[in-house]
Amino acid sequence: MASNDRNCSANSDLHPTAIAGFNEKTASLYDAKRPEYSKETVDVIFNQMNLDNLEPLENLSTDILELGAGTGKFTKSFYPRLNQSVKYTATDPMEGFLRQAKLNCPSIKTTVCSAENLPFPDASVRFVVCAQCFHWFASEASLKEIHRVLVSNGKLLCLWNVRDISIPWIRAASDLLYEYYTEDVPKATSGKWKEVFEKASLFRQLFTCTPSGTGIQGDKQAIVDYFMTISVIASRPENERIKARQRFLDIFDKFGANKPDSEEWIVPFTTEVYGYVKV
Ligand SMILES: C[S@@+](CC[C@H](N)C(=O)[O-])C[C@H]1O[C@@H](n2cnc3c(N)ncnc32)[C@H](O)[C@@H]1O
Repeated sequence: MASNDRNCSANSDLHPTAIAGFNEKTASLYDAKRPEYSKETVDVIFNQMNLDNLEPLENLSTDILELGAGTGKFTKSFYPRLNQSVKYTATDPMEGFLRQAKLNCPSIKTTVCSAENLPFPDASVRFVVCAQCFHWFASEASLKEIHRVLVSNGKLLCLWNVRDISIPWIRAASDLLYEYYTEDVPKATSGKWKEVFEKASLFRQLFTCTPSGTGIQGDKQAIVDYFMTISVIASRPENERIKARQRFLDIFDKFGANKPDSEEWIVPFTTEVYGYVKV
């Protein structure tokens, strides 16, 4: 990491499935197989920030603070859209993931930290962005931290890529995936993460929208690779991962009976975006 990166120990805040699923060993598969973020989604976030009309502020540590940036999947879609004068900091508690983000965006400033312990002064961040990650730290502790570092009227933007489960084989694969979740593992699609906003009363919701997303496409092995990157599978020991892989492949045999192995499959995504303002 570059010498200007400020690191802190963060692992005590993390769920064990996140530690085992998002690390040095899983980073390159994650980065290669997870869906990209669409231009429409990037536009929504960009327009919310109204970056051309920012008022000068003293003691600003960064304009945009990305939490849970991981391997930089969102970062690499968004960061190139920004004017060089905009200060951007990508953070994640998992150093192995953040290292991949640095490969994706070499000039970006990165900081290893969890959402529960942000090494930034009070009121020193204009926007916080959480792509595909807020459910991992949807607690009062992290919401208070986000609230603390944001300037007055600062915005929190959360987004998720969501599989289209109206397609029967994707529904079947998603149901199989959910078998690997234990009660304590945060699941974005449960919507449980919203409860903390109601409890804490620190933010007011500004909007929600669902811009079209991207998709992942490839033969059945490539699609199964994507499911293998999801933390509840990625975190399993190798022998269990081999069995899980076969169970996902069986779905393709069921839904694509008589189709050749080279058959292309597509998983379409929409993106759900939620915007909040600090109160
Ligand atoms: C599904 S990945 C999303 C990564 C990236 N934003 C993306 O769009 O692909 C979830 C990320 O949340 C991070 N994470 C988990 N617990 C966290 C916490 N307590 N604070 C901050 N980030 C956390 C993980 O390390 C992981 O990189």
